[in-house]
Amino acid sequence: MSTPSMTLFHNAASPYVRKVMVLLHETGQLGRVALHTCVLSPVSPHENLNAENPAGKIPALRLADGAVLHDSRVILDYLDQQHVGNPLIPREGSARWRRLTIASLADAILDAALLIRYETAMRPVEKHWQEWLNGQAEKIVRTVAYLEKDAMAELASTFDVAAISVACALGYLDFRLAHLGWRDQAPQLAAWYAEVAQRSSMVATQPA
Ligand code: BEZ
Repeated sequence: MSTPSMTLFHNAASPYVRKVMVLLHETGQLGRVALHTCVLSPVSPHENLNAENPAGKIPALRLADGAVLHDSRVILDYLDQQHVGNPLIPREGSARWRRLTIASLADAILDAALLIRYETAMRPVEKHWQEWLNGQAEKIVRTVAYLEKDAMAELASTFDVAAISVACALGYLDFRLAHLGWRDQAPQLAAWYAEVAQRSSMVATQPA
């Protein structure tokens, strides 16, 4: 295998990183990327990462020429243009905007889930703001309900950027917010997820 030409700033627990890792698996590009593990949180930043991405966020991808890409959506778009297989992000037309919009909904689940995670895991319990936590949880509930009602056929049609993003979002809910019980309101989504979670790309990237 050739030497990796790119470096991915990575943490195995990050669902945003997981999306990138799943795409690398699915497109046969794993060998092109070296992983640089970053242990960080909003209150304990990672200095090496801050030097590469002033927002201090993972994933960030350093290319062979030293340019650094972020965030996960930009990295997915870049990597999807570096392989010769079928694109996992449609290049044009209404399919492009629809698949990216479903991917954006998955990211909305993740954004809310991460805010809940930080509030509950990092702040002292007496400082928890319950109404705000409820508001974040409601975003997740609404989005899961939408996917169940209006996106199942599209999710089942191909394992592309939309499906990867939704699968990683649901995987993160299982990992950190299992008490939300997302499957209770979404039996079709649960059945779909049970299937795609068996893909080697998903098994190899389970959060830890
Ligand atoms: C987590 O432990 O849940 C986590 C770690 C890094 C980035 C995002 C989430």
